[in-house]
Amino acid sequence: MFTHKPLRRFITLGQFIIERQSDFPFAKGELSRLLRDIGIAAKLVNREVNKAGLADILGDMGETNVQGEDQKKLDVYANEQFINALRSGGECLAVASEENEDLIEIESPVSKNAKYVVCIDPLDGSSNIDVNVSIGTIFSIYRRKADRNGATTIDDFMIKGTEQVAAGYVIYGSSTMLVYTTGKGVNGFTLDPSIGEFCLSHPDMKIPEDGVIYSINEGNYTHFPEGVKKYIKYCQEDDKSTSRPYSSRYIGSLVADFHRNMIKGGVYIYPSTGKSPKGKLRLLYEANPLAFIAEQAGGKASNGFDRILEVQPESLHQRVPLFIGSKNMVEKAEELMRTHSV
Ligand code: AHG
Ligand code: MN
Ligand code: MN
Repeated sequence: MFTHKPLRRFITLGQFIIERQSDFPFAKGELSRLLRDIGIAAKLVNREVNKAGLADILGDMGETNVQGEDQKKLDVYANEQFINALRSGGECLAVASEENEDLIEIESPVSKNAKYVVCIDPLDGSSNIDVNVSIGTIFSIYRRKADRNGATTIDDFMIKGTEQVAAGYVIYGSSTMLVYTTGKGVNGFTLDPSIGEFCLSHPDMKIPEDGVIYSINEGNYTHFPEGVKKYIKYCQEDDKSTSRPYSSRYIGSLVADFHRNMIKGGVYIYPSTGKSPKGKLRLLYEANPLAFIAEQAGGKASNGFDRILEVQPESLHQRVPLFIGSKNMVEKAEELMRTHSV
C-alpha cells in the first residue's frame, strides 16, 4: 500500500525573515527588507564568484584599496553589488565598506525615511580568489540613534558592537551559505543553485564549547605577544585528557576559518604582529559582526583581554586583535594573555 510521507518543511530565507519579523525590536518590516536586499546581492556576487576562473574577472585591478592592499576585480564587483542593493532597497542611510575610505551616504528618494547603517567587508579572503579557495562577505547592521538626524556622519558608525541589530556572513564555498543573527540565535541558509534560493539548512547554530582546531597565521610567530606564543605551545602539547595536540587549520579567509570553527569547534586568532601592531582585522566590518554571531551561538570573541563587542570604535577602518570561536578555547587564550602579555 502506498503511504504518503509528510514533506519536510522547506523554508527559504525570504519566508524565514518574514516569519521572524516580530522578533525584531522595531518590527515594521524595514530590517526584513534590508536583510532581503543583502541576500539578493549575495546571489549576484555568488554568480560571479562561481565564474571567477573563466573570465577576465580574475586578477588584479592594478588599484589599491584604502588599506593599501591590492584590490581584485571581484572585490570591486562585490562592493558595487552590495552598495547598489542597499541603495535601491531604500532602508539604508549609509554604508561603511572596506573598499571605500569614507562612508557612502545613500541619497536617493526611496531612502529618505531609512533608519539603518551598514558596515560591510564585501569580499573577505580576496587573496584566495585566484586559487579557487572559499571566500566570503561580512556585514553588520545598526539602527541610527533616535537623537541623530540630518546628514549621516562618521559618528553614526562610532557605536559599540553591542548595539548591532543584525549581522551575518556569506561563505562562497563548496556550497554557498548565508548565516545571520538578529540577536535571537543564529541561523544558516544554503543556496540551492537549482532554484536560486537560500534555504534554511542550519537552524539555531551553536558553536561547540570546546574544539580541537586552532587557526592562526603562524608565519608571524616571532612577532606574536608572549601570551599567544604560550597558547600555541599549549595547543601543541600532548595531553590526551584534553584531546591535545590540537589540529592547526588556516585558510586565510576569515569567514571560512570562522565558519569551520563554528561548526566543528575551534579558535581563530589574529593577534598584533610586527607588521600590524594593532592586529590586521577591522573592528566594524570583520570583528564586530562575527563577534555578535559567535556570542549568539554560545561562543566568545575578545581582543585578548576584553569583549570585542565592548570596544569603542574611533575610526571607520580601525583594526583590532581578534580571538574568536569556542568559549573555552578563547578563555584559555585570554588566561595566557593576561598572565604573559599585560
Ligand atoms: P580581506 O580579503 O577582506 O582583506 O581580508 C583578509 C583577512 C582575513 O580574511 C584573513 O583571515 C586574513 O586577512 C589573512 O591574513 P594573513 O594573510 O596575514 O594571514
Ligand atoms: Mn576581510
Ligand atoms: Mn575584503
